[in-house]
Amino acid sequence: MLTTPFTELLGITYPIVQGGMQWVGRAELAAAVSEAGGLGMITALTQPTPDDLRREIERARALTDKPLGVNLTILPTIDPPPYDEYRRAIFDSGITIVETAGSNPAPHLDEFKRHGVTVIHKCTSVRHALKAEQVGVDAVSIDGFECAGHPGEDDIPGLILIPAATQRVNIPVIASGGFADGRGLAAALALGADGINMGTRFMCTVESPIHQQIKEAIVAADELDTELIFRPLRNTARVAKNSVSTEVVEILEAGGSFPDVRELVAGARGRTVYETGDAQAGIWSVGLVQGLIDDIPTAGEVVTRTVAEARDILTSSLARFAAG
Ligand SMILES: Cc1cc2nc3c(=O)[nH]c(=O)nc-3n(C[C@H](O)[C@H](O)[C@H](O)COP(=O)(O)O)c2cc1C
Repeated sequence: MLTTPFTELLGITYPIVQGGMQWVGRAELAAAVSEAGGLGMITALTQPTPDDLRREIERARALTDKPLGVNLTILPTIDPPPYDEYRRAIFDSGITIVETAGSNPAPHLDEFKRHGVTVIHKCTSVRHALKAEQVGVDAVSIDGFECAGHPGEDDIPGLILIPAATQRVNIPVIASGGFADGRGLAAALALGADGINMGTRFMCTVESPIHQQIKEAIVAADELDTELIFRPLRNTARVAKNSVSTEVVEILEAGGSFPDVRELVAGARGRTVYETGDAQAGIWSVGLVQGLIDDIPTAGEVVTRTVAEARDILTSSLARFAAG
C-alpha cells in the first residue's frame, strides 16, 4: 500500500493513474494498470460508438475486477459526439470512476452524481482546478506544461503549477505531466499532490496497443523531440516532433488557419502512426518525459517499480540528508 487521500477516495492500492489516451487507452492497458494496483483508464472516444465502449469495458472487466475508470474528453467541437449516450454506456457498464477533460465538466456532473460516479477532472491551470472543485468534482488531475497532449496556454511547468494547486484546492490533487518513475512520484508527493497521472510512460509499455516501432521511437527520442502545434489557434498540443508537426507549425506561423492544416492533423493519420509504426505518418501525442524513458516494460512493472522507487526515496535516500 501507499495510502493517500486519493487512494482512499477510490479504493485503489497505489496513487498512480493511467490517463486517458486517444487510440491508446484500450482494455488491455487499462486493465493491466488497475490489476497492478493503480487506476487504469479506458478512453471513451477511442471507441467509435457507445456500444463499442460497452464491449471495451466488458473486455477490461474480464481481465481485472479492480477499480477501473473511463476518460471522457469533452471537446468543444461543432459536431460533438453523442456524449449523453457515451455517459449512459459508462453507467450501464457499472463504471464508477470517470476522468473528464477538455472543457468544464459541469453539464455532465448531475448525471454522474446521480449514478454514484466519482469524477476526476483533468485541467491545466489553478483557476480551472478551483472551478472544478466548486462545481463538485471529487478530485482534480493537473497537467503541467511538460505534458503530452493539451498543456493549455499558460505554460506553467509542474514544479510551480502543482504546489500552486495543492495549496489552494481542498479535494485530492493528482500531479500530471512529466512523470515516469518513482523519483517523479516522490517529488509529486513532496509538492503536496496525492498521486501522479502518467500518459507517455504507459504508452511505452508491453500492453499499450501501438506499434512496437513507435514504442522504440519513444525510447530513442529525448526531451527535445516534441513540438507545440496549434499555438496561434490557442489550442496548443504537445506532439512528437516529425516532418508533419514541423510543417503544421510553419503553416500556422506564416498566418495559415485551421483549414490549411486540416488534412495534415487528421486523426486518421495519427491512428496510422500507431497501426503501421511509421512515426512520420501523422501527428501523435507524446510528452517531454520521453527523455526519461529507456525501456518497454509491462504496465504492471511500471506501477510496481514506481512505487518501490518512491518508497526508497522517501524513507531512505532522502532521509540521509535530514539525518545529517
Ligand atoms: C498518446 C496520447 C493520447 C492522449 N489522449 C488524451 C485524450 O484523449 N484525452 C485526455 O484527456 N488526455 C489525453 N492525453 C493526455 C494524458 O492523459 C496525460 O494527461 C498526459 O499524457 C500526461 O503527461 P505525460 O505524457 O507527460 O505523462 C493523451 C496523451 C498521450 C500520450
